[in-house]
Amino acid sequence: MRVLVVGSGGREHALVWRLASSPTLTELHAAPGNPGIAALATCHPVGSEDGDGLRELARSLGADLVVVGPEAPLVAGVADTLRHVGISVFGPSAAAARIEGSKRFAKDVMAAAGVPTARLLDEPRAPCVLKADGLAAGKGVIVCRTDAELEQALRGAPVDRTMLVEELLDGPEVSILALCDGREAIVLAPARDYKRALDGDEGPNTGGMGSFAPVGVDRDEAELVETCIRPVLDELAGRGSPFVGTLFAGLMLTADGPRVLEYNCRFGDPETQSVLPLVDGDLLEPLAAAATGSLAGTSLGRREGAAVTVIVTAGDYPASGDRGTPIEGIEEAEASGALVFHAGTALRDGQLVTNGGRLVGVTATGATISAARERAYAASDLIRIDGCRRRGDIALGVEDA
Ligand code: AMP
Ligand code: GLY
Repeated sequence: MRVLVVGSGGREHALVWRLASSPTLTELHAAPGNPGIAALATCHPVGSEDGDGLRELARSLGADLVVVGPEAPLVAGVADTLRHVGISVFGPSAAAARIEGSKRFAKDVMAAAGVPTARLLDEPRAPCVLKADGLAAGKGVIVCRTDAELEQALRGAPVDRTMLVEELLDGPEVSILALCDGREAIVLAPARDYKRALDGDEGPNTGGMGSFAPVGVDRDEAELVETCIRPVLDELAGRGSPFVGTLFAGLMLTADGPRVLEYNCRFGDPETQSVLPLVDGDLLEPLAAAATGSLAGTSLGRREGAAVTVIVTAGDYPASGDRGTPIEGIEEAEASGALVFHAGTALRDGQLVTNGGRLVGVTATGATISAARERAYAASDLIRIDGCRRRGDIALGVEDA
């Protein structure tokens, strides 16, 4: 099978890494990819949001399957552009991707499907949460616990009709990633990401500073799928826009039961980097089956143990990124048994250099979360980038599932 992976981040590197070992794979391509991906796949200089360019590339490669990583091209309709010319795609249509692209649409679907979620409030009153309606790369949510926090938030972001206000919920969070074919779903290991920039969950929200899996969800995973995934699949199918791809439910496990905070229309970043090493078996088969609506009967094993991912970022991330600083030590980190997934890297005259906010992710597995954590941090110690930063408390103090 000839496969094209769209995107250029750590999530896509993890996907490419996992697909590269598939027994049915014959060719692996990426657009645009990154230097880490280039070691495993042929990279093509076509942007992930260039629908026409991707269509022509997929055609010229004779791709049997296109896997779209990021949300922006999905929300913009890249999967539709490809399907329109008969190319098989793992990734939702623009109509289904609205579940991530518009928080208002997601709330409407949840209400119609009977999915438990945070209540919408008529007006901002602390404690509450303000959410921008459109895509915001994980940075469009402001949690306001006090009047002072709310006032500050309102000064920065006037509440208009594109802003949602909802009740503030409390509890541990978990990301549920389900491979979906429009009707059926296969759920991957529950994961947690660390969205805040600084240790102790301080500082601004980021795209994600680290992750681990599995998270103990304290209830039947199958029940979570029945509560939070299947009703949405049924609702979207009923609206004539079946969801094909990864439906990602961001849940809070409150004292009153699970509540969905958001849906994403794609694999999580950096959850994917922790979840895929725990997949036992061939990932390509379910992705290809989902793309053709034939997931029923397909299953995916799960490895024992745990995986932890630590993201190394530019010093000022998320305020700004870094470009052109040499990156050293990746081979040493890999030799220690860890996986290093490139996110913001580039090659300049043969030297690997920084190129973004999140630079690389270091993933390690182990029999327990603390063993995986120790290996991930030890490996990330070996990576040398002037001025870089990481959180020190990823998966710290977490009990095994
Ligand atoms: P979202 O983009 O909707 O997942 O929100 C980003 C983060 O904001 C979540 O991971 C939570 O940590 C937090 N958050 C979102 N909604 C709520 C809520 N209703 N109550 C408490 N925290 C929330
Ligand atoms: N890690 C959260 C996300 O991918 O949106």
